[in-house]
Formats: sequence, C-alpha cells, structure tokens
Amino acid sequence: MPTQNSYNYKVVRQFAIMTVVWGIVGMLVGVLIAAQMAWPVLNFDIPWLTFGRLRALHTNAVIFAFGGSALFATSYYVVQRTCHVRLFSGPLAGFTFWGWQLIIVLAAITLPLGITTSKEYAELEWPIDILITLVWVSYAVVFFGTLIKRKIPHIYVANWFFGAFIITVAILHLGNSAALPVNFLKSYSVYSGVQDAMVQWWYGHNAVGFFLTAGFLGIMYYFIPKQAERPVYSYRLSVVHFWALVFTYIWAGPHHLHYTALPNWAQSLGMVFSLILLAPSWGGMINGIMTLSGAWEKLRTDPILRFLIVSVSFYGMSTFEGPMMAIKTVNALSHYTDWTIGHVHSGALGWVALVSIGAMYYLIPRLFGREIYSVKLIEVHFWIATIGIVLYITSMWVAGIMQGLMWRAVNTDGTLTYSFVESVQAMHPFYIVRFLGGAFFLVGMLIMAYNVWRTVVGAKPAEAAIPAPATAH
Ligand code: HEM
Ligand code: HEM
Repeated sequence: MPTQNSYNYKVVRQFAIMTVVWGIVGMLVGVLIAAQMAWPVLNFDIPWLTFGRLRALHTNAVIFAFGGSALFATSYYVVQRTCHVRLFSGPLAGFTFWGWQLIIVLAAITLPLGITTSKEYAELEWPIDILITLVWVSYAVVFFGTLIKRKIPHIYVANWFFGAFIITVAILHLGNSAALPVNFLKSYSVYSGVQDAMVQWWYGHNAVGFFLTAGFLGIMYYFIPKQAERPVYSYRLSVVHFWALVFTYIWAGPHHLHYTALPNWAQSLGMVFSLILLAPSWGGMINGIMTLSGAWEKLRTDPILRFLIVSVSFYGMSTFEGPMMAIKTVNALSHYTDWTIGHVHSGALGWVALVSIGAMYYLIPRLFGREIYSVKLIEVHFWIATIGIVLYITSMWVAGIMQGLMWRAVNTDGTLTYSFVESVQAMHPFYIVRFLGGAFFLVGMLIMAYNVWRTVVGAKPAEAAIPAPATAH
C-alpha cells in the first residue's frame, strides 16, 4: 500500500501554484484588452501594448500557461493516485515543469515584440515550437511511463481522457507547426492558401477539443466523484463518452471555415459532425452532473463542489451553443461577431476556468498538508466569478447578434442601413459591461491567491494530509 511519501507531489505542487499565478497574469491581460476595446486610448500608442499583440499574449497565457499548468498538475496527481505508483522519472517530470515555464516566459517576451507565426493559438516561432515538442514528449513519457508501471490493473477513465489529450496535442502541434525557418525569429508555414487554413483549423478546433475539453474532462471524472464522495454516475457511459468524443471531434474543424474557399462538401461535413458532437458532449455532462445524485444537498454547503458542478453546466451550455453556431445559416450571422467571443468565454471561463479552480481548491490544501484558510472566501470567489461570467457572456451575445443584424440590414433600395463604424459605436456599452465582467472574474482570482497563500504559509495543518488510498481512486 503506497504511503503519503511514495508519491511525487513536488511537481504537482509547483504546477498547482503556477496555475493560480498564470491565471492572474493571463486574465489581467484579458481585462486590459477588454478595456482597450472600450477605451482604445489605453494602448498609449506603445507598440507592445497594442491590442493586436496583447490579444495573442492573453490567449497563450490563459490557455497554455493557466490551463496547461492545471492539466499538468491534475494529470500528474490523478495518474499516481489511480495507479498506486510514484510518477515515472522525477527528473523528467521536473524538466516538464521548468521547460513549460521557460516556454511561457519566452511567449511573454516574443508576442508583445510582435514575433509571431500569425497562426491563431500556434503563434510561437519555431525555436519555441521545438522546445514545446521536447517538453511534450517528456510529458508523454512521464505520464505513460507511470501508467505502464501501475499496480492497479484497471486504467481509470480520467487517465483515458488525459492520455488522449497528450497524444492528440502532440500530433496537432507537429502537423500544424511544420514550417520553413528563414532566420532565428521568422518562419513560414509549409502549407499555403486554403490548405494552410484547413490544417490551421484542424489544429485550432482540436486544440479546443483536446486541450480545452478532453483534459478537463479528465479533471471532471476524478475530482467530482472525489469531492462528492460518490462513484461516477455511469462508468459504462464514461467509456462510450470517451470513444464517441474523440472520434467525432477530429472531423468538426471545417465549421471555422464556413463560406470560405474550402470546398463546400468539407464545410458541410464539419457542420454535420459538429451537430453529432452534441450527443457525446451532453452524455459527458449528464454523467458529471448525475454523479451528484443522492447528494444534491452538498451543493448548498460545499463551494468547491459548486465550482465543479457549475463548470459542467457551462460545458453543457457551450457544447449546445457550438453545434448551433456550426449550422451554416446561423454561422452566416454569428461569424466575425462578438457572439463567437461570448461562446468562447462561456467555454473558457464557465467550463475550463471553473473546473480548474475547483480542482485547485481540492488539491492545494492536500498537497501542502494544510486545511484551507477560509471556506468563506471560496464561497465569495464562487459568486464573484459567476457574476463575472454572466456579465461577460450576456453582453457578448447581445453585442454579437446586434452586430450581425446591423451588418446585414438593407434599405428598400438595396443599400446598407448602417455603416460599419455605426456598428462599432453601438458596441461601446457592451464592451464596458464585458470589461466589468472580466474585472469581477479577476478579483475572484486575486481572492483565491490570497486564500491559497494563507493556506500554504498558515499554521493550520490538516489532521490527515492525504490518507493513503483505500480504493483504486
Ligand atoms: C460541441 C462542442 C462545440 C462545437 C460544435 C463548437 C463550435 C464552434 C463554432 C461553430 C465556432 C465559431 C466558428 C466561427 O464562426 O469562426 C466556435 C468557436 C470557438 N469555440 Fe466552440 N464549439 C464547441 C465547444 C467549445 C468549447 C467547450 C470551447 C471552450 C472550452 C470552445 C471554444 C471555442 C473557441 C476558442 C472558438 C473561437 C475560435 C477562433 O475563431 O479563434 N468551443 N466553436
Ligand atoms: C478575466 C477574464 C478574461 C477576460 C476579461 C478576457 C477577455 C478577452 C478579450 C477582450 C478577448 C478578445 C476578444 C476580441 O478579439 O474581440 C479575448 C479573447 C480570447 N480569450 Fe479571453 N478573457 C478572459 C479569460 C479567458 C480565459 C480563462 C480563457 C481560456 C481558458 C480565454 C480564452 C480566450 C480565447 C480563446 C480568445 C480568442 C477568441 C477568438 O479568437 O474567437 N479568455 N479574451
């Protein structure tokens, strides 16, 4: 039976703390660019403070630094706990931590300087891409190495999701980043024209499907049953969920390229697979939420569980909205508008951020052998974050639909009813509301940082920090 010391918690602790730190940094940049949309003077005419450069910094910081750290921390924790063995190769795990931090720092330097491949979510230039490959291969070795030496014959479903996320992201990164370097800081994609667009959105959509979804479903499948002290609602459904999700996601990318030079049949294929994707996504959501059956009353008293369950509800919402937006006639209205931004953040803040925050509140006290400093502050965080999300996404929905309708409005003589600049002007109040929503969410993160800091340095040791596992997980 493994004991407290037989697991490698050092690397889990490091990634867990950096999740909070990078969350704050990435969201601070998000709040700044949201403010710039409302008050453009806030770029102060300084090139590296302009929206175009900081936007990529925001997306890289929140997805790869914040989301990535949460995924490293949770996958390293879960694979050890469910396999009853110590993480494979401590030094290699340490390399993944320091390598990943270096990549983030390099991103934070190069993106504001305007050094970019211009491929969305794959902006980093080729030397950094090579470093990413090294770190990612090491991650795969550590994760699968641990699975191979497991003492439990069964592989718990959360590990399936983490494993698919690790393998798929490796393939996506290698495929989409293939480029010809012209010097140390500039390269050109080996693909051109519509092929380049197609490869980019095969990457982009599956970055959503595997980086922002599959890995976080791994978190859902471990941390909800743990926090609710209930087994997963249906283990059989979780296996169906896994295979249906990984099979369907990979086809849906062309919905990002409706009404472009991409052949029409490919666009329709993307649309149909996006509609099918609703089924496995909701199967997963139902499995997560129904895990609470018989324990619903815990939602009233346990703010950590509330973070986790509300995140799954947002997952359900954004995976309903996504297939609707993938319908060509709906996309004709929504594309290029803030509706997409609303959809993105109902997934990003509502699902990815809330489930990560819930998992960190579960993990951090246990990893440091302390009791949480204040449950009340978790409660406050939950409400501030929820209000922030609601302000963000409702303002973007209204703004987006209004933009779409204004752009297509025509007078009886066939001329456009509104000039483009009138639609920009109409957005102003909504951009202020979005800024406020983002600021709320950021304040929640600062409260979390305070709570975590007081927990880690505090003198409230837990009675039993992490009991040795009695069951498989
Ligand atoms: C069944 C699941 C989903 C489907 C079918 C779907 C579909 C779509 C569609 C049709 C678009 C708009 C494309 C455009 O007009 O440019 C979109 C954009 C986006 N979605 Fe989803 N979505 C789903 C779930 C999610 C989730 C859960 C997240 C986040 C965690 C997410 C993140 C994004 C992002 C980041 C974009 C913007 C991409 C870009 O243009 O940069 N989606 N999605
Ligand atoms: C305080 C919280 C946040 C604020 C204020 C914020 C703000 C913004 C703003 C202003 C944009 C640019 C929108 C535009 O170009 O019109 C943006 C884009 C984006 N953000 Fe955030 N964000 C926040 C949190 C997050 C988080 C936690 C994630 C992911 C986990 C995320 C993922 C993205 C993505 C993927 C885009 C690009 C969307 C697209 O191209 O369609 N954001 N964000």
